Amino acid sequence: MRIVHFSDTHVFRAPRDVRAFLDKRLLGVINFSLRRQSRIDYNLFDRAVSTIKSLAPDVVVCTGDLTAVGTPQEFADVLDVLAPLRNNPAFDFIFVPGNHDAYVPRKRCKESLRETFYELNSGRWKLDDLPVTLEKDNLRFFVVNQAQPTNLFSSAGITSDAELEQLRTELNAPRKTGEKRLMISHYPTLNGEGHRLPWPRRHTKDRQFMKILDDGQIDILLSGHVHTPFKHVQPNSTLQISAGALTIYGQINVLEYSPQTGTFRQYWKDIKKPQTPRPDAMESQTLLQAKARE
Ligand SMILES: [Fe+2]
Ligand SMILES: [Fe+2]
Repeated sequence: MRIVHFSDTHVFRAPRDVRAFLDKRLLGVINFSLRRQSRIDYNLFDRAVSTIKSLAPDVVVCTGDLTAVGTPQEFADVLDVLAPLRNNPAFDFIFVPGNHDAYVPRKRCKESLRETFYELNSGRWKLDDLPVTLEKDNLRFFVVNQAQPTNLFSSAGITSDAELEQLRTELNAPRKTGEKRLMISHYPTLNGEGHRLPWPRRHTKDRQFMKILDDGQIDILLSGHVHTPFKHVQPNSTLQISAGALTIYGQINVLEYSPQTGTFRQYWKDIKKPQTPRPDAMESQTLLQAKARE
């Protein structure tokens, strides 16, 4: 079973809506122009799509921030680029939004996010259905929305009390024999060094998500938001992986699960490197096995 995970493409288009100059999008445009534009290479997004297909995935996971300021033009462009991966019967596609996809509470922006969410998840769920679970062989995916419009200078994650309670109910259900659990969300609870994310970049309920991981209710958390890709193994062997910003670092996270041994093997696919791997390329890939839990 192969899970292929990418995140944070931050596709940017200048908003056509004049009201964008009256809300947070103005700040987003300035921020993007000054800080991000020179670092982002959108060719990496196109290249990633063909690479992901060539990896013959069973599940493709995207952990959000597909857009820069969450406008309908940006979502339309994202759907165009992702066309080869949409509604493909060969694999499941799981998408959760990031804070940049839910940037402002404008009706058209919110509708575009809802439509994109529904389309990318192959019509399986509506955004308001989350949290939901998806079972595939011995794996159970917990799919969580943490993106809501926030105030001007905040990039914090938000999950309502009701959503968190719904998630806890699902997590408290007994595991099936040999079941492994993966959470799909935009926010990691820690950064690559194992430290709490700074305010206002962290989830407002990050302590509660930390407890879920510390209690061993999740084996692997797949996230984005932190733009430098990382993987971090907690003392209880729970694994966190942020795929980082695809259009800056060009990294795709690949997880291979063996039902026979109940273990995962992880490596990064670097799409900035030439596409034809040398025969010994596998040797340089980072290997990691998440400890099997009974
Ligand atoms: Fe991001
Ligand atoms: Fe983010």
